[in-house]
Amino acid sequence: MRRLSFASRAPSNIALIKYMGKTESALNLPENASLSMTLDALSTWVEATPSVGSEVRWIPELPRVPEIERVGAGAAFAAPKLEGKGVERLARHVERARTQAREVFARFGLEFDADAASRGLELRSANSFPAASGIASSASAFAAITTVAAHSCARDPDAFLRALDDVDFRRALARISRQGSGSSCRSFEGPFVYWEGEEARALETGMPALAHFVLLISSEEKKTSSSAAHLQIKSSPLWPARLQHLGERTARMTAALAAGRVSDVARLAWTEAWEMHSLFHTAEPPFSYWQPGTVAALQWLAPFFESNSTIEPPIATLDAGPNVHLIVRASDRELWRARISERFPELKVLEDQPGAGAIARVRSLA
Ligand code: DP6
Repeated sequence: MRRLSFASRAPSNIALIKYMGKTESALNLPENASLSMTLDALSTWVEATPSVGSEVRWIPELPRVPEIERVGAGAAFAAPKLEGKGVERLARHVERARTQAREVFARFGLEFDADAASRGLELRSANSFPAASGIASSASAFAAITTVAAHSCARDPDAFLRALDDVDFRRALARISRQGSGSSCRSFEGPFVYWEGEEARALETGMPALAHFVLLISSEEKKTSSSAAHLQIKSSPLWPARLQHLGERTARMTAALAAGRVSDVARLAWTEAWEMHSLFHTAEPPFSYWQPGTVAALQWLAPFFESNSTIEPPIATLDAGPNVHLIVRASDRELWRARISERFPELKVLEDQPGAGAIARVRSLA
């Protein structure tokens, strides 16, 4: 029998309107619509190789991915550390993805191979971002795992690859992926993705070509997981107000993206990032992801948003972590690289650009 290896590279994404707070924890259904930019090089590769037995096993080795496909900004290509609970969560998600793939395949005319779907799988994974960069992302990992798990159930693996050209098929995979980790459903399309309820879909925008930087403030393990944050923010007195006004901010963001008004997108994303972190800071008990370097970066950025600034503000935001993301016009990439290194000469900075979402590969093993 031909032994196949299924691989997927899925990018991380950075939210401009945040997913924070769930209506339904088991299914990762969000309280509010969110909106993100899909990244390109900052991504996770996962390789799944069918094995004897029925167990899903995590192998702490690099996936066997051709050198040429190891994209990344001077790419690191390192296996993430994963143990105990992490491995369990992953194996559970593989099961879920394979179970749900059956119905999705039926809808898209793909033949589901029940034998293949019950076989064991060995999973190997690598991130294109440096190991201890503190940006380890469940979004890229779960999007890639969903893709390989589903791919491994296809009677015709090439037909699966063709199906991935259909955005509706991608959206069906994204729905499965969301149940493993919410934000991963925004990593199947790009560059701008809107997620509401069960559906994530790309938005038409008038945005110019963009460049993305991550200021790597700290690589320390975070004390509060984002899953815990989703619960704890509801104790903040700011939470009810956020639910009331966020729809309006999201509508304004969508309109600004459609019209390509970079400066408006930047202002809305800046307020949104401050608001999410304010929820953290005012929760009961409060918690924070900020480090001294985060505060320094925010203080440096603040004047660009003042009304008398002559410089277009960057789109600046932070997820549930200390690192600061900047998105600027691609034509201003050099200018911003110079500004960042002048102000923070010691800081490690990652660079990326907008991307198009998960890809899949299949190859025969010798
Ligand atoms: C702050 O997707 O990591 O990055 O669904 O519990 O896995 P789970 O949460 P996760 O939450 C991400 C939160 C965020 C904001 C965002 O990406 O929208």
